[in-house]
Amino acid sequence: GRVLLAYSGGLDTSCILAWLIEQGYEVLAYMADVGQEEDFEAARKKALNCGAKKFILEDLRREFVTELIYPAVQANCIYEGVYLLGTSLARPVIARGMIESATKEGCDFVSHGCTGKGNDQVRFELAFYGLKPDIKVITPWRIPEFYNRFAGRSALLEFAAEKKIPVTQTAAKPWSTDENLFHISYEAGILEDPNTTPPADMWKLTNSPENAPTTPEQISIEFKQGLPVKVVAGDKTYTDAVEIFLALNALARKHGVGRIDIVENRFIGVKSRGCYESPGATILRVAHMDLEGLTLDRNVRALRDQFVTVQLSHILYNGYFFSPEREFVTASIPASQRTVNGTVRVKLYKGNVIVEGRYSDEQLYDARESSMDELGGFEPTDTTGFIQIESIRIKKWGQANVQKGQA
Ligand code: ARG
Ligand code: SIN
Repeated sequence: GRVLLAYSGGLDTSCILAWLIEQGYEVLAYMADVGQEEDFEAARKKALNCGAKKFILEDLRREFVTELIYPAVQANCIYEGVYLLGTSLARPVIARGMIESATKEGCDFVSHGCTGKGNDQVRFELAFYGLKPDIKVITPWRIPEFYNRFAGRSALLEFAAEKKIPVTQTAAKPWSTDENLFHISYEAGILEDPNTTPPADMWKLTNSPENAPTTPEQISIEFKQGLPVKVVAGDKTYTDAVEIFLALNALARKHGVGRIDIVENRFIGVKSRGCYESPGATILRVAHMDLEGLTLDRNVRALRDQFVTVQLSHILYNGYFFSPEREFVTASIPASQRTVNGTVRVKLYKGNVIVEGRYSDEQLYDARESSMDELGGFEPTDTTGFIQIESIRIKKWGQANVQKGQA
């Protein structure tokens, strides 16, 4: 059979590639460019050296930004209050790229190198089945002949030596990473002790706040329907979807914005300590939420926060991007973002994103109506009635409590 393997260029997927060939499969190595810093030419050589029939590289950055990242920004998606979902967001585009290539190349099988304990196996496989229900998936880290043989790193290294797979581990990093243009994740290895402070040289996408410039930098972000359409920083202006993201990443990197460290609950039920850098995404989140304060109706906002934000975050984290519930939830996003138009000015300073002002042509905010210094479009005495009616129930409750206290 022919297998399309999600190939990362690392030790695990290189050994999986060689192992699949040993099992009699013809293997095509698939790599998606989702904005990770990567030597794609080196990966191509390595895959072909491992015996791959073909190396497929696809630039999926634009669809990653517009189809996955954008709805997440509009809905303020966040997992367990901290994680901005960078890995979860990339998996659906990679899985779709794989299924398209597998179909085109006549592969009956796809394969990946995810462990049997993580979220990514679930995300990849649910996406594969949602897109091509008859696809067959080979998951080496859940096949006893594979995981028993390669238990422990030394067996992998021996196999690599035997198969002449170069191990290009320059000063092996004692953790595992996953990178794309939205974020990088660090997990496992020395990070598994949740009380171990990440070493300063682990962080790759941002300056430390301590080493960030002592001069703050002011930028402005213009949104249309909750999406960034223009970023102005100094004398530079960015309007292209991908370029806006890259520019925000560069600004955040310089000013040490976007580092987090959490213990999260994985879908399968285990806890996991992870560190993340989501530089540009952190700026966008702050600015977008701020603009909603000025432009979004109170009750739409409350419903969106309770329903869309919470549900979509879980759907993404748990790997249900290709599902009826995801279609249902994201269909409501445009209706919530119709008025989210305007510009937010923020200051970047030593790890902080500080909002300095916002402007919109939308008419929800009325400075005169809100002013403490003048009468608005209603009489102060109207508010007396409002409070009296609202207090009917509260007085009842208070009265009962007072009586209980006396009894
Ligand atoms: N814990 C994060 C998540 O589930 C990051 C996963 C990183 N994946 C990886 N293959 N290193 O989204
Ligand atoms: C893995 O287990 O392959 C990486 C971590 C995860 O998927 O959560």
